[in-house]
Amino acid sequence: MIGIFDSGVGGMTVARAIEQLLPDLPYIYFGDLAHSPYGSKSREMLIEYSCRNTDFLLAQGAKIIVIACNSASSTASYILRERYQMPIIDVISPAVRKAADLSEHGRIGLIGTRATVNSGVYGKRLEEIRPKSRLYPQACPLLVPLVEEGWLDRRETKMIVRKYLHPLRNKQIDTLILGCTHYPLLKKAIIPRIGKRVHIIDSSVEAALYLKTMLDQDTALYESLHAPDTANRYYVSDLSSPVQSLAASIFGRSVHLEKINV
Ligand code: DGL
Repeated sequence: MIGIFDSGVGGMTVARAIEQLLPDLPYIYFGDLAHSPYGSKSREMLIEYSCRNTDFLLAQGAKIIVIACNSASSTASYILRERYQMPIIDVISPAVRKAADLSEHGRIGLIGTRATVNSGVYGKRLEEIRPKSRLYPQACPLLVPLVEEGWLDRRETKMIVRKYLHPLRNKQIDTLILGCTHYPLLKKAIIPRIGKRVHIIDSSVEAALYLKTMLDQDTALYESLHAPDTANRYYVSDLSSPVQSLAASIFGRSVHLEKINV
């Protein structure tokens, strides 16, 4: 069983990508809605929540953890790897590797929450992978609430997206990393405003591809995750109706969310 956690249901973009690439492997998803949003939390809180989420998933039988949340990946992935003797996948390295591969001029933009941008982790990873490139980060704190309101196609959303992307256009980036669970849902608003020639890197897709490659090379791990006739399960630490509809719009089907106390 794969364990996936996020601050809420936005991380279902990662679960969806994993489901598409690894349909035979069951997963258990946990959205920590009681403590969401993570994007405005301190490093200390994000580490505490991430450890609690991981303990919960382990107790449910997870043998590998995917940190679907960019904010938690940026601040807590090192600590989780130190504390837990199991593979921990974050959403950052796979996206940075892809951006470093695709970028022609090494001018790479990043959009994410404040926690993600302030952590500086994307810049450090890029420096390790492609030292001569440059990262241009932009925090976009208004985008998560807009997605959660379902305002994907609204004029106001397009205006805000334009405003956030303006500095990155001025820097003439050739590649843009969508460094937040919610932003894949805004691709239609982002692409025309950053320019069609800019490569768009979806961290949810890259994390799923990374997981697939890892499992293709490690048959024992793949087998340990295999649990025939086990359905995917979705847990949240708080539940409200807008969240149900966001989950349904990510998967294109209704999803049963079970509220639990972690
Ligand atoms: N899941 C968060 C992330 O990817 C976005 C939502 C939040 O701030 O909790 O950074």
